[in-house]
Amino acid sequence: MSQPKKLMRALAGETLETPPVWMMRQAGRYLPEYRATRAEAGDFLSLCYNSDLAAEVTLQPIRRYGFDAAILFADILLLPQALGADLWFVTGEGPRLSTITEYGQFAKLKDVDAIHETLNPVYDTVSILSRELSSETTLIGFAGAPWTVATYMIAGRGTPDQGPAHALREEDPKTFDALMDLLTQGTISYLKRQIEAGAEVVKIFDSWAGSLKGEAFTKYALEPAKAITAAIKEAHPEVPVIAFPREAGDGYIGFAKATGADCVAIDNSVSADWAAEHVQKDGCVQGNLDPKRMVTGGEALVTETKRIVKAFSGGPHIFNLGHGITPDAEPENVHLMLEAIRG
Ligand code: CP3
Repeated sequence: MSQPKKLMRALAGETLETPPVWMMRQAGRYLPEYRATRAEAGDFLSLCYNSDLAAEVTLQPIRRYGFDAAILFADILLLPQALGADLWFVTGEGPRLSTITEYGQFAKLKDVDAIHETLNPVYDTVSILSRELSSETTLIGFAGAPWTVATYMIAGRGTPDQGPAHALREEDPKTFDALMDLLTQGTISYLKRQIEAGAEVVKIFDSWAGSLKGEAFTKYALEPAKAITAAIKEAHPEVPVIAFPREAGDGYIGFAKATGADCVAIDNSVSADWAAEHVQKDGCVQGNLDPKRMVTGGEALVTETKRIVKAFSGGPHIFNLGHGITPDAEPENVHLMLEAIRG
């Protein structure tokens, strides 16, 4: 049977006339309808755990823009919460968690089997979406990569240089490695459940992979992505995996081959021409418009969008931003981008 979904075709390695397109954080604060539903839920975490409302905000950008993919509305920090970490969001600042700085704190976390009790509403969101989406729209599930999630669990918040996580991995490898193992196993179990509920593709977000260099990049970004991908493929060989080792630079080269991922998502710190030459030669790439273009708009947005489409036109490509769309983005600019891609 022919695969009607454009995103699935690109992930299978097909070069398409016009690339499929979606945006990281496409359900977010730049949309008035998102802000209204979030207010109805009360706060961000209540929205994540309210399956009907989480499905509703996932669908909002699909209705408004007709993207080729919907990404489950949830957050990478729900897994640490399911493992027993305290989690809350400070308005205007971001996430806060209880910290892990010594083995005793790690030892208090729950076993992998216990996470589903907390995460069941997320699987319900996936089931709802799987029923509601049209036959053209692909449903993407996701999780954070172990390194990125560990950086938040160790520091208890986002950090500019992931200093506390680097310190723990150097000074207390026993605790750090134990945490990485637990997160790797937890991520595998979490993603498998999302797939069983109806996710057709999974994406692994390693937002802070760029702060790992050399051997540390191999050990803490590449190896976990490889382990997670292998476990997913063993249970669900038909489900494509997108890896996003953000700001990996040269680390993007060969990342898909080394991990078994079907697609590598590229941030906008590297040029599309460079990525086409060095990364797309191995298969599908996703990216990589600067999210700032969605704020500034105008002719520059159109020109830059077309330049990226052209740069990647020789191989399989999924159009996306290099990182999430920001709350100050102009909703009308998304139409400009889509027109530039689809004509
Ligand atoms: O892409 C999507 O639309 C799917 C949903 C999604 C969210 N977060 C919703 C969200 C996804 C895939 C994420 C991933 C995520 N979450 C990452 C990795 C990707 C990246 O952006 O680097 C990270 C590091 C997080 C952790 C996180 N969640 C932070 C640091 C913040 C605060 C920063 C901010 O933008 O406010 C969040 C909150 C968050 N996650 C929001 C959304 C829509 C904003 C919450 C709100 O409504 O106030």
